[in-house]
Amino acid sequence: MPERVDIVNFGAGPSALPTSILEEAAKGLLNYRNTGIGLTELSHRSKEFGTLTKHLESLIREQLEVPSNYHIAFTQGGGSGQFSAVVLNLLARHRLLNPNVTDEERVMDYVVTGSWSKKASEEAKRLGGGKVNVVVDGRTYSKTGKAFDNIPPHDKWAFSPKPAFVYYCENETVDGVQFSHEEGSAQAFPFHLTDPSVPIVADYSSSFMSRPIPRLKDHALIYAGAQKNIGPSGLTILIIRDDLLVDTDAAAKLGAAPVPITLVYKTLADSGSLYNTPPMFPMYVSELVLERMKNSGGLQRLEEANRRKATLLYDTLDEAEKKGLVKVKVQPGSKSWMNATFELVGEGAEQKFLEGAEAKGFKQLKGHR
Ligand SMILES: Cc1ncc(COP(=O)(O)O)c(C=O)c1O
Repeated sequence: MPERVDIVNFGAGPSALPTSILEEAAKGLLNYRNTGIGLTELSHRSKEFGTLTKHLESLIREQLEVPSNYHIAFTQGGGSGQFSAVVLNLLARHRLLNPNVTDEERVMDYVVTGSWSKKASEEAKRLGGGKVNVVVDGRTYSKTGKAFDNIPPHDKWAFSPKPAFVYYCENETVDGVQFSHEEGSAQAFPFHLTDPSVPIVADYSSSFMSRPIPRLKDHALIYAGAQKNIGPSGLTILIIRDDLLVDTDAAAKLGAAPVPITLVYKTLADSGSLYNTPPMFPMYVSELVLERMKNSGGLQRLEEANRRKATLLYDTLDEAEKKGLVKVKVQPGSKSWMNATFELVGEGAEQKFLEGAEAKGFKQLKGHR
């Protein structure tokens, strides 16, 4: 029977959490900060949980340098919940600003660089209320014409003139495609091509708190699930600019789709994430993880560590590719620091690799699809 120390867990999310944090959280589950009550048995409106929420918020705000005109909200529903919430809130906002624009003329711009942004764009199509314009589809520029393996050249991007919002996914977990963080890189998000009055929305689910967010102030909304990098599943973190906190009921009177109350950004912000019971345990573990991160050098140190890890891994994979052992899936410049995707060359090689890895305690290496 293996112990935790025998295992290297590569799960892309839910992902490994530090043992010392889980041990501390286990104590808090029984007796939170000498209250004699476990964290998940306390009221979410208690003084203690209020302190935890404020501290969690400040750990995110300080480390990501989030300006004061952005709210940080904690909710449920995961990244998939946000695929819907983004559309409903941003179309309501657009309706209030442009009451005479028809649904035919109302456009949502989706940048499709992998399976998660594709899924988000499909949810936007399903919900309706506006048309989806795929700004660019990474598959068109891929080695095979079918896979997502690149951030496409900027001159191929076709933004709409005045969309309700522009949406992209910063790190495509399944495909291993990530935007570059180097300002001016051909694979960086082309903020210079966007209209500054159009809200930009980014899914940071699988890279949140792994390094600083480039040009955070150019975004209107950034969201992430906790389960990849900072805690257990069940918690979704939203960084929402003030102008997205609109009265969705007023928009519904003008013809927009009514928004379920727990998805309304204004409700989440106005209630301090307490409109309904927030995911208390994932928030607690995330607080412990982010506190430890801050005390051990913060995001700058983590960025350096992650850069070294990615360089070592991709250098090793490149060597193996030269020897004909593996095929690295993603094109240079677009390779994710978080999820490296590669194939083993040869009949049965992948199965053999996974079995060998498993025997050494390397678990959850197979892609999560
Ligand atoms: C980039 C990205 N976006 C969205 C999601 C969906 O998140 P959830 O399962 O929390 O709904 C995932 C999940 O793996 C993801 O990796």
